[in-house]
Amino acid sequence: MKVGVIGAGQMGSGIAEVFALAGNEVKIYDVDRGQLDRALKNIKWSLSKLAEKGRVKDVEEIMSRLHVSEGLSSFQTEELVVEAVFEDFNVKAKTLEEVSRRLSPESLIATNTSSIPITELSRAVWSPERFLGMHFFNPPVLMELVEVIKGDSTRDVYFNKALEVVRNIGKTALPVRKDVPGFVVNRILFRVFNKACSILDRYTVEQVDWVAYYDLGFPMGIFMLLDYTGLDLNLSISKEVAKRGLKLNCPEVEKLVANGKRGAKSGSGFYDWKERPRIERVQGGPSPKELIEDAFREGLWLIKEGVATEEEIDKGTMLGLGLRSGIMTMGRRLGLS
Ligand code: 3HC
Repeated sequence: MKVGVIGAGQMGSGIAEVFALAGNEVKIYDVDRGQLDRALKNIKWSLSKLAEKGRVKDVEEIMSRLHVSEGLSSFQTEELVVEAVFEDFNVKAKTLEEVSRRLSPESLIATNTSSIPITELSRAVWSPERFLGMHFFNPPVLMELVEVIKGDSTRDVYFNKALEVVRNIGKTALPVRKDVPGFVVNRILFRVFNKACSILDRYTVEQVDWVAYYDLGFPMGIFMLLDYTGLDLNLSISKEVAKRGLKLNCPEVEKLVANGKRGAKSGSGFYDWKERPRIERVQGGPSPKELIEDAFREGLWLIKEGVATEEEIDKGTMLGLGLRSGIMTMGRRLGLS
């Protein structure tokens, strides 16, 4: 399959890698040529890591399937294009308008937005019946889940095709048939982030992260994950969801970003990332129940609204966030109901 990926940041480069790894020819584009060079370097590093573990045989062969594009106008014959540009409605809408204008009306067009409803973005897309959300988790090559989101205009034939594409790249699809800001897994994660930020007057970053890691089975601490996904991205997400009624508030993230600390990619955030930070055992900290009760309630809201079932929320949080057990199961075990 010929695939296009627009945006070569952490997510775009990871998505391009996943498609190339699964045998597809991939064209990748970014307005910033330097970003494209960094993306290719990161993909090569990641593939070499997978080769060390026996998951990849020939790194160069996979790299040869990745092609750098010189401009949006070069996307014409791709069967699938995934947009993964900056998390801002106007930037995404402009990109989608431009690329959908040239592609054949049968080509699938997907956005990797973390937060913006598909139906809103679809208004910018030519032939919006072939447009949907394909939401990957960072790092795409290691995280098994992809949420596939149907907008109001998405036709079933294209939705089913996207589910098949996700299966063909070896990932597990979580079909999301109701288009709410942040979809399923991110809505849960936003509540965890927000709660963690709101208790920083009582606990330290290290205390919160230790409880998340040790008691709740998160693969990394909550603030470490904020750093890892990018504080600037999290700030943009908060702005986009706030416009749509979901208020998230983390003044510490705003302060860090204002000081140029964008998390792992900039070398510092809540943690210093010159070397990979480790979670340290510390005393005290919030109760595990306090940390996830809002996320659990968000899960109940998703069920009530018919966005996802309890099983889907559990599966999504395990495969998308690497949790040892799903957030709903975890909450019930801690006495939430
Ligand atoms: N490609 C290949 N290998 C990689 C890699 C990549 N991109 N990233 C890390 N690795 C390798 C490491 O180099 C290391 O290799 P080694 O064993 O040879 O040293 C190995 O994987 C294990 O990595 P680490 O020791 O650094 O740490 P972990 O064991 O904790 O694994 C992790 C890393 C898979 C990222 C794990 O911590 C994890 O699952 N974290 C949670 C991630 C998560 O929640 N993602 C979703 C965020 S939300 C999102 O993306 C949505 C968006 O809309 C915001």
